[in-house]
Amino acid sequence: MASAIASPACIGARSDRARRSRRARASRAVVTARASRAVDRSVRGLDPIEEDAARGKVIVVTGANSGIGKEACKQLYAAGATVLVAARSREKATAACEEIARDARGDASRVDGDAVRDRRAPEEAPPLATRPRFGRAVPVVVDLGDVRSIARASAEILNSHPVVDVIVCNAGVAPDRAGNAVSKTGKPTRRTKDGFEETIGVNHLGHFALVRELRGALREGSRVVVTSGCVHDKSSPDGKNGAPPTLGDLTGLRRHAPGERAFSMVDGGDFDGNKAYKDSKLCGVLFARALSKRLEPIGATACAFSPGFVPTSSLFRFQTSFVQTLLKTAFNYPPLATSLRTAGAFTAHMALSDAVAAAGPGAYFCGPPSFSKPEDAHPWLGGFARGLIAPEFGVKAPSEEARDDALAEALWEVSEALIDDALARREAAAAAVDGPGPGAAAGDGGWRNNIHAKVGGGARVPTSR
Ligand SMILES: NC(=O)c1ccc[n+]([C@@H]2O[C@H](COP(=O)([O-])OP(=O)(O)OC[C@H]3O[C@@H](n4cnc5c(N)ncnc54)[C@H](OP(=O)(O)O)[C@@H]3O)[C@@H](O)[C@H]2O)c1
Repeated sequence: MASAIASPACIGARSDRARRSRRARASRAVVTARASRAVDRSVRGLDPIEEDAARGKVIVVTGANSGIGKEACKQLYAAGATVLVAARSREKATAACEEIARDARGDASRVDGDAVRDRRAPEEAPPLATRPRFGRAVPVVVDLGDVRSIARASAEILNSHPVVDVIVCNAGVAPDRAGNAVSKTGKPTRRTKDGFEETIGVNHLGHFALVRELRGALREGSRVVVTSGCVHDKSSPDGKNGAPPTLGDLTGLRRHAPGERAFSMVDGGDFDGNKAYKDSKLCGVLFARALSKRLEPIGATACAFSPGFVPTSSLFRFQTSFVQTLLKTAFNYPPLATSLRTAGAFTAHMALSDAVAAAGPGAYFCGPPSFSKPEDAHPWLGGFARGLIAPEFGVKAPSEEARDDALAEALWEVSEALIDDALARREAAAAAVDGPGPGAAAGDGGWRNNIHAKVGGGARVPTSR
C-alpha cells in the first residue's frame, strides 16, 4: 500500500508535475481563450493571432468606431499594435479607443485570473501593470467624404507616426435600396462635402486620398489592406442581386464637375444605390491592384479581401427597418453569416499574416462560404457547398473586371485628378472665407506641395483608358 506520507523528493516531483500540469492547463486556457476571442468557428487558412504578433506595429484602421473595424482594432490592440482608431468625430474615436482598451483588458484579466499569466515562467514575467502586453489605441478624426479632413488627419498621423506599417481601408457606407427606388431623378440623395456621390466618394475616393497622403509613411514591409466584398463580383450570389457591378468606361467619373455634372454612377448611369455599393467594392480591388504596383519599388504591398456577410454590423442602417430585421434574424446564421469576431479576425489576418505578403501584389482574399479551392469542391454540390461545409479563408481570383489592369490604371488616374481638383477647390473656397487652410497653417512636411504641383488650376481628368 502506498504510504500516505510522501517523501520530500516525491513531494518535489509531484509539485513539479502539478506545477507543469497547472501551467499546461493555464497555457491551454490562454490559447483557447484567445482563439475563442479571435474566431468563433473554425475557419481553415486563418492564422491564429499570436501574442505580441503586432508589437511595435503602427496600424491605421478607418471606420474603427463601429462593426468590423472596431472588432479588428480590439484584436490588433490585444496583439500589441499601436492602433490609430479613425472615426468621423473626436467623440466617436475616443469612445472607440476606450472600448477597445477596456474590452481587451477585460478579456485578458479573465485569462490572467489563471495561475500562469503568460507563456513565460511566473518568476520571469514582469508584474501585470508593467508588462508590455497591450498596444495603444490612438484616436484620429477623419471624414472620408471631405478632402480637407483627410488632409488634416494625414498631417496629424505623419507628425505623430512617421512610419505606418498597415493602413486598413475599412470604412464604408451602403445606401438604402428602397430610397433608390423612390428617387425618380436618377440622382443620388447623398453627396460628400466634396460633391461626390457618397458611396464611391467615401468607400473609394476617400480611401484613395488618405492612402496617397500617407504614402510617405509606408516602408519596406508596410501594407495597405482594402476591405472589399464578394458583391464586387457579378457572378457571386450577392453580386447577382440587382444590377451587376461594372465601372464601364468610367464615363461618370471622367465627366464629373461640381454641380449639375456631378457623377451619380461611375459608369455614367442613373443612380442605383445597390449597384453603387457593388461598384465601390470593385473599385477597392482595382485600387489595391494599381496601388501594389506603385508600392513594389519600396517593398510595400497592397491587397483586398471580403469579410463575408456580417449582418450584425451597422452597415445596413440605411435599409428599411423590415430589411434590417430580416438580415439580423433570418439571415444571421453561420455559415451564411459571418460574426463580427470572425470578420475582425479576417481583417487582423490581412493586416498581420505573412501568408498575405506571400500571396503577391494586389492579391484578393475571401472567406466562407464563397471561398473554396476548385480542387476541394464538393463532388455533387460544387465549391459553394464545400465552403459551407468546410469554411476556409484564402486567396481567390477576383472578378474578371477586377483583374483588368488597364481599368485599374484608368481608375487610378481619374481618382487622382478628382481628388486633386476637389482639394484645390475646397482649399480655395476656405481660403476666401478663412485665410489659408489647416494643412498650410500646420506646415506639415510638404504633403500639400505634391497635390498643388499637380493641380495647376483644374482637374486633369483623363479622357480615355
Ligand atoms: N457588413 C457586411 O456584411 C460587409 C460585407 C462586405 C464588406 N463589408 C465592408 O466592411 C467594411 C466595414 O463595414 P461594417 O460592416 O463594419 O459596417 P459599419 O459598422 O457601418 O462600419 C462602417 C464604418 O465606416 C464609417 N464611415 C462611414 N462613412 C464615413 C466617412 N464619411 N468617413 C469616415 N468613416 C466613415 C462609419 O462611421 P459612422 O459610425 O460615423 O457612420 C463606421 O465606423 C465596409 O467597407 C463594408 O463595405 C461589410
